[in-house]
Amino acid sequence: MVVFGISGSGKSTILKLVSGLIRPESGRVIVNGQDMTDASESEWQHIRPKIGFVFQGGALFDSMTVGENVGYYLLEHTDKSLVEIEAVVRETLRFMNLSEDLIDLLPDSLSGGMQRRVAIGRAVAAVDPLIMLYDEPTTGLDPISTRAITEMILKLRDVKKVSSIVVTHEIADAFEVTDHFVVLHDGEIVFDGHGAEMLKCPNPHVREFLTPFLDSVRALPQA
Ligand SMILES: Nc1ncnc2c1ncn2[C@@H]1O[C@H](COP(=O)(O)OP(=O)(O)OP(=O)(O)O)[C@@H](O)[C@H]1O
Ligand SMILES: [Mg+2]
Repeated sequence: MVVFGISGSGKSTILKLVSGLIRPESGRVIVNGQDMTDASESEWQHIRPKIGFVFQGGALFDSMTVGENVGYYLLEHTDKSLVEIEAVVRETLRFMNLSEDLIDLLPDSLSGGMQRRVAIGRAVAAVDPLIMLYDEPTTGLDPISTRAITEMILKLRDVKKVSSIVVTHEIADAFEVTDHFVVLHDGEIVFDGHGAEMLKCPNPHVREFLTPFLDSVRALPQA
């Protein structure tokens, strides 16, 4: 599903709630059918290895190579051997349609779009994801790089059966990822439903968010 909303509406907050990084003051958090509202840290530790998080602006560690970035979590938090970790890193790079030759490069030498894909790879390699949370994974990227990220999200869904929550402002791309949309405003869900309903939704906060997009669609030359 895709989460929309203006800046400050609570998009990043909802992802942090779903991954247990913060606890709700009210309401309930249900993850994979399990009520996690009052879960202890050790209960969260059971479910967190199933949740991959691509953080907003999620920078890579710039003094580490691509391989060290992707393998970071496995190196720090598991007792896997270096050989096993390298195998996971290489498989992850291949899955992300990134060349294995990147493994020894520093992030600085990659394009912004490739860095973003490595960041997704880092999140995927860290866990065996059932759920991926993406916080604005394509912000600032050109349309081709954005497309590559969208394809990654779909490939994870189709090949690894991963459910995703994607926070994005790229409305056109969002329609390629899903037909399930949530719009937040001031910490409240003001819309939850299909794309066609969203485009017709009279709620002023939904309209406020969609109007610039609808205007740009109307401005396109008609075929
Ligand atoms: N732990 C917290 N306690 C209280 N308020 C918080 C907490 N975390 C975030 N907020 C507030 O909640 C609001 C939503 O923040 P959030 O980062 O989720 O917005 P966002 O929709 O992701 O915005 P952006 O598009 O700019 O990234 C902000 O006003 C923020 O200051
Ligand atoms: Mg945010």
